[in-house]
Amino acid sequence: MKITIKNKEEINKMRVAGKLAAEVLEMITPFVVPGVSTGELDDICYKYITEVQKSIPANVGYRGYEKTICSSVNQVICHGIPDKNKILKNGDILNIDVTVIKDGWHGDTSKMFLVGKCQPHNERLVKITQECLYKAIEIVKPGAYLGDIGNIIQKHAESNYYSVVEDYCGHGIGTVYHEEPQVLHYGNPNTGIQLKEGMCFTIEPMINQGSKYTKSLSDGWTVETKDGRNSAQWEHTLAVTNDGVEVLTKRSEESI
Ligand code: MF3
Ligand code: CO
Ligand code: CO
Repeated sequence: MKITIKNKEEINKMRVAGKLAAEVLEMITPFVVPGVSTGELDDICYKYITEVQKSIPANVGYRGYEKTICSSVNQVICHGIPDKNKILKNGDILNIDVTVIKDGWHGDTSKMFLVGKCQPHNERLVKITQECLYKAIEIVKPGAYLGDIGNIIQKHAESNYYSVVEDYCGHGIGTVYHEEPQVLHYGNPNTGIQLKEGMCFTIEPMINQGSKYTKSLSDGWTVETKDGRNSAQWEHTLAVTNDGVEVLTKRSEESI
């Protein structure tokens, strides 16, 4: 399959789906406190998407996944499965990743949460990872290369003594959840395909305190750091405009 270009009306629908996904993260924020379980957070998001937003939680049934959110705590890089027995404790760092389908179109986004009072090294990981995403978003415009995105993320991560996960990447998105192109979070400037107006894709860097290597757990989903050190991730869904970028999953707390 080729990279799809979305027209104005299609981008309008992506904007609706993106906004709904962003609103799930805004809605769930006050519930993320020490003592809550990731399973409870998942239930709240499921009810909100289906009953309030009258939308579809894209993860449910996706390749056999059964939950609405991915909830990735501390050394979990991505695809952590919500669980009533997984109670958040003071000092944890948590990623919640959610995708909403509205009118057939997808919005995919994730953010990090500092649970209670976190150690400075964890706060720093979360902050630098968000900066990696923002720096990448800033350079998105027609004519920019996918390699420019990977390079700016890698440079910011490595200059802060972190590593970039290479085993998972961002992706094109539209009526299909994961489509071309693959958006790598490392790479070289002026390499890969050039961006065009109407392309929609995610950028979702996963940045590790230790080495870049990953391991998958026997549950078939959870991905952890091989060395057991912590990892952070932030994700937005973007549309390339005629002269730059629109962040379709922007939350109201953000000024991007
Ligand atoms: N939302 C994830 C992504 O950013 C994919 C999750 S798939 C699931 O692409 F099945 F694990 F939910
Ligand atoms: Co994604
Ligand atoms: Co996601």
